[in-house]
Amino acid sequence: MRVTIFGTGYVGLVTGTCLAEVGHEVICVDIDAAKIDGLRNGIIPIYEPGLEPMVKANHAEGRLHFTTDAASAIAHGDVIFIAVGTPPDEDGSADLQYVLAVAKTIGTHLQKPAVVVDKSTVPVGTADKVRAAIAEALAARGADVAYDVVSNPEFLKEGAAVEDCMRPDRIVIGADSASAIDKLKKLYAPFNRNHERIVVMDVRSAELTKYAANAMLATKISFMNEIANIAEKVGADVEMVRQGIGSDPRIGWHFIYPGAGYGGSCFPKDVQALARTAQQHGYRAELLDAVESVNHRQKAHLFELIERHYGTGDLRGKTFAVWGLAFKPNTDDMREASSRRLLQLLWDAGANVRAFDPEAAHEAQRIFGERDDLVLCEHAPEALQGADALVVITEWKQFRSPDFAKLKSALKDAVVFDGRNLYDPAEVEAAGVAHYGIGRGRSI
Ligand code: UGA
Repeated sequence: MRVTIFGTGYVGLVTGTCLAEVGHEVICVDIDAAKIDGLRNGIIPIYEPGLEPMVKANHAEGRLHFTTDAASAIAHGDVIFIAVGTPPDEDGSADLQYVLAVAKTIGTHLQKPAVVVDKSTVPVGTADKVRAAIAEALAARGADVAYDVVSNPEFLKEGAAVEDCMRPDRIVIGADSASAIDKLKKLYAPFNRNHERIVVMDVRSAELTKYAANAMLATKISFMNEIANIAEKVGADVEMVRQGIGSDPRIGWHFIYPGAGYGGSCFPKDVQALARTAQQHGYRAELLDAVESVNHRQKAHLFELIERHYGTGDLRGKTFAVWGLAFKPNTDDMREASSRRLLQLLWDAGANVRAFDPEAAHEAQRIFGERDDLVLCEHAPEALQGADALVVITEWKQFRSPDFAKLKSALKDAVVFDGRNLYDPAEVEAAGVAHYGIGRGRSI
């Protein structure tokens, strides 16, 4: 099928590439000429495992094209995806200006019937606004072309986006037209193997499904962080509690890992946006507000543990090795990363940071610029050189089993602040290194 995708960000690029991979003819459009130029020359703007070779192969084989020319791209697509950003507005609701600008562009150039698909995460009711924006642009040029607007949210995880796209656990299609549903079913047929993965529903339910999924996951994390904080107070170990509850299939093993708070471009933004949507409809979503505020507090928790160890106000001139900057492993993304809050708190307290992240150093450089109290290191041991203590904030695999004896001799003060509960406190302490974890009340 002929597919057009607006937006070559995370979602658009991964979706376009995977659709090309299964044989569709895909054109990706972006207003950023430098990005499009780069993509044509094999420069991938994000780090995502498996993406680069897939983009290059499909581009070389002529199924995946990149352009800034919206008119020709609209002429190409039977299915036109909107996958541009929806950054949070000042009040936390999603800013729809980019989505609606694309809708207007579609209406301005549409010559033949098409299915327009909202792929971006957009508040309930957005499909109606997209439909209206296209109608208005068509009317402005006196054109009458048939089109459908469908909601088809993405469920990609950063770091596993290609895998999630190629092997989705579900494909949600929200539509009110039988022919649009048929078209999308055909488009996704190559991904819908072995058992039925396509869930068809009305547009508003599909829009809400996306927020419900992310809000549920964020709630699980904040819930466990709340339990972790209670465990610290009462002298229990949340890792034991986690193992004690995860085997109940109604609770499950996934997303019950306590830590330094959730980050990324999705959970913080989507929890807020859903709360705002509820508010706009006269409902105060108290649980969502709590999920957000627990997470906000949790991002400062590691710093509180550091202060507990050293004493409040005693961090001036100390140097902290920080392992991890990205908001999670296998990405270079630092949006809403807990590391940002930690670094700021350390700097405000007069401490220095020697940080290492396998992928996010350039992002850190871009965000923080040159500063005397930050050294970005080339590898994990380098960050330890001259540091007083180690803080681990992202659970990259390579941080999982350090040589604690070496760590003890490298650090001035043998102490580890383990923001993702990667280590067994007993093992660390047996090596003569003090260990602070999250919710590990037995060892603090
Ligand atoms: C999330 C969802 O998991 C995807 O299903 C969704 O499609 C995506 O948002 C989106 O809306 O586009 P992502 O933001 O890539 O994906 O990251 P996650 O893997 O979900 O992790 C989010 C954060 O939660 C990370 O900071 C991670 O460290 C933290 N986390 C995760 C925990 O603190 N504990 C856990 O048990 C799990």
